[in-house]
Amino acid sequence: MIYLDNAATSFPKPPEVAAACLDYLENIGASPGRSGHRAAAAAGRILYRTRKGLAELFNFPDPGRIIFSENATGALNLALFGLLKKGDRVLTGPLEHNSVMRPLRRLEGTLGLTIDILPTGTESHYDLETLARWTRERNYRLAVFNHVSNVTGTIAPLDKILPLLREHGILSVVDGAQSAGTLAIDLQRLRPDVFCFTGHKGLFGPPGTGGLCLWEGIEPEPLRLGGTGSRSEAELQPEFLPDRHESGTPNTMGLAGLGAGVNFILKIGQEKITAHERGLAAILHRGLAEISGVKVFGPRPADRGLAVVSFTLNDASPAEIGFRLDREFSILTRVGLHCAPRAHRSLGTFPTGTVRLAPGWFNRKEEIEAVLSAIERIAGRGKRK
Ligand code: ALA
Repeated sequence: MIYLDNAATSFPKPPEVAAACLDYLENIGASPGRSGHRAAAAAGRILYRTRKGLAELFNFPDPGRIIFSENATGALNLALFGLLKKGDRVLTGPLEHNSVMRPLRRLEGTLGLTIDILPTGTESHYDLETLARWTRERNYRLAVFNHVSNVTGTIAPLDKILPLLREHGILSVVDGAQSAGTLAIDLQRLRPDVFCFTGHKGLFGPPGTGGLCLWEGIEPEPLRLGGTGSRSEAELQPEFLPDRHESGTPNTMGLAGLGAGVNFILKIGQEKITAHERGLAAILHRGLAEISGVKVFGPRPADRGLAVVSFTLNDASPAEIGFRLDREFSILTRVGLHCAPRAHRSLGTFPTGTVRLAPGWFNRKEEIEAVLSAIERIAGRGKRK
């Protein structure tokens, strides 16, 4: 089997991840912060170490302002529902996922938001001239942008977008579902107000893990209230972080695995992982360009692209191609709209979508070559002249 669906979730995970989950289940088992005994303290240390590892990986100054959630969707929901208010005007990008669009559309109905979508432009899909004009002329309260597209691997020009938002006092939320663990992230340099991430993709953690980094002074309303193990005498939710947003028994097993995944990246080095994945994507880009009838979407790795490569083959259905890759060649991909219809509308691939090839750290060059020859065989017409 050749697994090329790492943009949906990474597989395999480093062996340390399963070992950390098992160690928690077999040897610790307790709930962090809920009791004073040694196992509860050990569970508390797991959460602390995972926050610390994430803070180191993202160069984020305060591990205590990293809030855990179940995935990037949970983090984005907390940021958007927790920060937006009645009548706010919001700006978002051309490549957004439904984890951004659906909360925004819901809030459009309940809070009367005005939502502006930045047109597709020439700077890695972003129209920065319009961005400059709109941020000057329109009264935005918040802007939310995808960091790396889960459809095309496009890296958003955040180094240009975020300073503009700051200059105009606009709150910034970054959807880092696809960038965390696949790209070096320096939050002290980028300075988004909120950075949302998931644990189960580039960070190699198990599903059910993720979170958000809240910059000092950014205090969304909590989405979920309840027991935190702290200030138990009070019927009011504690106001301090991370407890304000972490009610209920946490997923300590998953977070143990996430901590091990993050350590794996720190040990190998983010740059090395990114270079390997980009190298595989570059082979895919080059190989696909030679197959007659194939159209590749998104930038090459050399031009602000990461290891997410989407393509179509003439007018063949992406679903059929994905099915044949799986059945005939044991190659696992993800086809269709990738929960990002907005992005596919921007690319002109709505409603059938694309076939998405997403290599990861554990893929090898030979696998990528096998994938290219399988696609060539499906295309049936061989190489471009
Ligand atoms: N958003 C994930 C994907 O792109 C699940 O497949």
